[in-house]
Amino acid sequence: MNILVVGGGGREHAVIKSLKKNNSVEKIYALPGNGGIARDAECYPVKATDVAGIVEFAKTHAVDFAVVTPDDPLVLGCVDALEEIGIPCFGPKKNAAIIEGSKVFSKDLMQKYGIPTAESRAFTDADEAIAYLKAGSFPAVVKADGLALGKGVVIAQTFEEAETAVREIMCDKVFGASGNSILVEEFLTGPEVSVLSFTDGKTVVPMISSMDHKRAKDNDEGLNTGGMGTVAPNPFFTEAVAKECMEKIFLPTVRAMNAEGRTFKGCLYFGLMLTPKGPKVIEYNCRFGDPETQVVLPLLKSDLLEIMLAVNKGTLTPDMVRFRNGAACCVVLASEGYPKSYQTGYELTLPETEENEHIFVAGAKKEGEKLLTAGGRVLGAVAAADTLKQAVEGAYALAEKIKFENAYMRKDIGKRALSAIR
Ligand code: AMP
Ligand code: GLY
Repeated sequence: MNILVVGGGGREHAVIKSLKKNNSVEKIYALPGNGGIARDAECYPVKATDVAGIVEFAKTHAVDFAVVTPDDPLVLGCVDALEEIGIPCFGPKKNAAIIEGSKVFSKDLMQKYGIPTAESRAFTDADEAIAYLKAGSFPAVVKADGLALGKGVVIAQTFEEAETAVREIMCDKVFGASGNSILVEEFLTGPEVSVLSFTDGKTVVPMISSMDHKRAKDNDEGLNTGGMGTVAPNPFFTEAVAKECMEKIFLPTVRAMNAEGRTFKGCLYFGLMLTPKGPKVIEYNCRFGDPETQVVLPLLKSDLLEIMLAVNKGTLTPDMVRFRNGAACCVVLASEGYPKSYQTGYELTLPETEENEHIFVAGAKKEGEKLLTAGGRVLGAVAAADTLKQAVEGAYALAEKIKFENAYMRKDIGKRALSAIR
């Protein structure tokens, strides 16, 4: 089979490496991929948001199956466009991808179907939102409705901060049309858990749970980033919590989407907060998380392509999705300065990896035989092991071997998870 993977980050690298384990895979095309992915797939410079370009590519390259991974092509209807020309896909159609594409939609869905989430109100008028905030308590959470490169959520400690956020999002349109509507939401507390799941619209099978580390600096300080590291499993997501989430969140969400005529097929990501009043949904994503995928897929024992084909055909069963015992840790190596300004173009040397070690490249380009850094987040150093402690040590040992100028990493990935186990 020839497979097309849309996207070009560390998550896509992890997906591609897992797909390659299936013997029936002949070629994997990555659009656009990156310099590191080029070691595992044929990369072509078609942007992940260029749906017409992706369709054109697929028409001329005998693609048997496509995996659309990033949020924006999904929200733009890339799966619909590929299926129209007869290419089966893994990923939700546009009418289901809205679960991530519009936070107002997903909030309405949760309220309508009784799925636990933070109290909130939607606004299309900045002055009304500001008047509402003035009468409320703090911290408060302000969220742009649409996609905002992961930056559309502001936790405002004071009224002034909230007002600034509303004006920037709704009046200055710092996220473009994504800020036409906003949500003002109750501030929740508790450990956060990411649960990626496979669903064909009938059956929903959660993958092993994980924990992201979103802030740039140790001890969860500094700016929000796309994710500086992950561990799986997440020790806060106990069996009892998993059961409760299945009954109150996972199944109701899949059923709600069906009831709305928006059957979701693909990877449905539940961003959860385990609050003192029980698990609540912080956000849905219509895709694999990044860098969660980099720790989840290395622990998957089953064949990823077979699962994806079953999701597409509507024949998914829980026994198809098996994880090994043990744990994994991903430490992200970024360019110093990320997520603000940073420099790129430094030579990157990657060591050989052992079994249970992976280097998933997120931001690098090839220049001749050399690999140069080309992004804020450059790569994830991943280790899987029998225990979380060994996985964390293994990921850091691997990260230490990777050399490029101006490399930066957090030193405490996995610390909170380890303290919860002890
Ligand atoms: P998101 O961009 O939706 O992933 O949100 C970014 C981060 O903001 C989440 O990972 C949470 O840490 C935080 N967050 C979002 N909504 C809330 C909320 N209602 N209460 C507390 N924290 C929140
Ligand atoms: N790691 C969070 C996300 O993929 O949105």
